[in-house]
Amino acid sequence: PRKIILDCDPGHDDAVALLLAQAHPAIELLAVTTVAGNQSLPKVTHNALGVATLAGITAPVAAGAEGPLVRSAEFAADIHGDSGLDGVVLPEASVTLDARGAVDLIIDLVMSHEPGEITLVPTGPLTNIALAVRREPRIVDRVREVVLMGGSARSGNLTPVAEFNIAFDPEAAAEVFEAGWPVVMAGLDVTHQALARPHIAARIAAAGGPKAEFMRDLLAEYGRRYADVQGFEAPPVHDPVAVAIVIDEELSGGAPSHFDLVRAPIAIETTGRHTTGMTVVDLRPWVSREVPTSVALGLDADWFWDLVVDAVAASPAP
Ligand code: BDR
Ligand code: CA
Repeated sequence: PRKIILDCDPGHDDAVALLLAQAHPAIELLAVTTVAGNQSLPKVTHNALGVATLAGITAPVAAGAEGPLVRSAEFAADIHGDSGLDGVVLPEASVTLDARGAVDLIIDLVMSHEPGEITLVPTGPLTNIALAVRREPRIVDRVREVVLMGGSARSGNLTPVAEFNIAFDPEAAAEVFEAGWPVVMAGLDVTHQALARPHIAARIAAAGGPKAEFMRDLLAEYGRRYADVQGFEAPPVHDPVAVAIVIDEELSGGAPSHFDLVRAPIAIETTGRHTTGMTVVDLRPWVSREVPTSVALGLDADWFWDLVVDAVAASPAP
């Protein structure tokens, strides 16, 4: 299985990413790290511990950055609520927080594994990852790749052109995209194809058990909020898409077969008057594709939802 560190800000869709990463046999979850984003660090960390308990995650959970590198934090309470995970009942956490900070844990794991072994999967702002590169630049050559949820080649969600995870901390995103390691961007182009329509929600609820009940409540609340705030008929479940790319790569032994991935230069706008946080994806056909960054543009949504349904149905490891 592919060894990953899931760096997240749960968050409804982050919670789904955690369930999927834990349940799928192609993934070995080495650690869960948290970062301020959808809500404050204490709130998302509390949520991560509760979801880890529900999912049967035994990997360490460590807390990271309390806010962006240089800007002030603007949480996403409109979508995720005051708790960061409104509308669900979390079990009392039996998983406890690791004493190490997220940044140190990421560095320790990457440096103590063979080069090319660990994949980073950030599903929140990129603050922790940027701080880890600053503190230990050698991780850049040792990480296999960074497969992240964030950005968009076309339209944004927080602003006309910027997606939330990138816009929350654009300076961190710029450092991560410019580091030179392989970066795969699962942005809105592809996550807006991962809509939890009613028949999907029904399949998930029908799986039975505590994870299915949790997911039923989660999707109901998340769907209501996405309908109210962004006018979506069914909510885009962004974050597990990044996990799904890693699963697909691991199963295919190479390029993912259920995604349309395109190599392209990607620059992060940090100083625009109207465009800060934009991921400027260069899809001009004559531009060199000899770059370490790729963007996901297409997704086999049926395949993706089968993964999620199976993850919810899977009983936690004993
Ligand atoms: C991203 O922003 C957050 O609200 C979600 O958890 C997801 O990671 C989508 O723009
Ligand atoms: Ca997230």
